[in-house]
Amino acid sequence: MSVFLMRSCKLPSGAEMPVFGIGTWRMGESARRRAQELDAVRYALDLGYPMIDTAEMYGDGGAEEIVGEALAGRSTRPFIVSKVYPHNATRSGTVAACERSLQRMGLERIDLYLLHWRGGARIEETFEAFHRLRTAGKIGDFGVSNFDADDMKDAAGLDKGQTASNQVLYCLSRRGPEFDLLPWMRKRSIPLMAYSPLDQGGLLGKAALKKLATEVGCTPAQLAIAWVLAQPGVVTIPKSSTRERVKENLGAVEVTLTPRILAELDRAFPPPKGKQALEML
Ligand SMILES: NC(=O)c1ccc[n+]([C@@H]2O[C@H](COP(=O)([O-])OP(=O)(O)OC[C@H]3O[C@@H](n4cnc5c(N)ncnc54)[C@H](OP(=O)(O)O)[C@@H]3O)[C@@H](O)[C@H]2O)c1
Repeated sequence: MSVFLMRSCKLPSGAEMPVFGIGTWRMGESARRRAQELDAVRYALDLGYPMIDTAEMYGDGGAEEIVGEALAGRSTRPFIVSKVYPHNATRSGTVAACERSLQRMGLERIDLYLLHWRGGARIEETFEAFHRLRTAGKIGDFGVSNFDADDMKDAAGLDKGQTASNQVLYCLSRRGPEFDLLPWMRKRSIPLMAYSPLDQGGLLGKAALKKLATEVGCTPAQLAIAWVLAQPGVVTIPKSSTRERVKENLGAVEVTLTPRILAELDRAFPPPKGKQALEML
């Protein structure tokens, strides 16, 4: 799969964001695993992964350092997403945190910079800092993470219509956002970035997923990711630190799901019938 064939979606600013990338949570936490994690991110880039999701929280900066090392010496780079800790997300703290992230990754700009979850600083201050960072060219767009529908409504009153995305837990086994959050975001053309599309691996042993994957001719992981990608206005960032899985997961972008398979998946993993509070990992 070439980067050039990868679908992308439009952010409210007009910028394009790829629909697929690699996540990096749990990377950079252990010296013993570091070489393998770096190899996996490098391999993802070699294969054409067009986006990397990271955060200052992951490995206490260690994941961003791996991203920086994987990017070093490349002539093109993917779309970069990183996140600020809520306790750093004050007016000046956000700017300082972003500068540290840029330094760890050896970059001049983060394409999409997110508030990791709500709490800590007042979001007015965080948004003010985001605007400042954008004016200075240090970030392309900004957004939020783990915001439920009410949080998004609050944000909408404060962000001058500029929140580019909301990164939340969304996968076949956790479909709560479909009830209200996702429709609210779709109405405003704000893409939802689905994290843990494999439910951190928990989905992969489900008998229904395995059976349907065999019918489709793909692996259970590919089916789980392809289902997320089949949802309009949704992008996703599965994480793996092994070469085979990095390749396997990318294969999901080429899996097409028929209406029958989608209906079978709905039967096995039903959509929500009412409001469910947003889950968070
Ligand atoms: N904003 C937030 O609060 C938040 C929260 C959670 C996650 N995220 C982001 O979203 C990314 C993805 O979520 P996640 O890492 O929680 O979970 P995930 O992508 O659903 O699953 C990752 C887990 O599944 C395993 N795995 C990956 N591909 C596999 C495959 N093809 N077959 C079998 N096992 C496979 C990985 O192990 P190996 O690495 O050993 O392959 C890892 O243990 C994160 O890395 C992070 O960037 C954001």
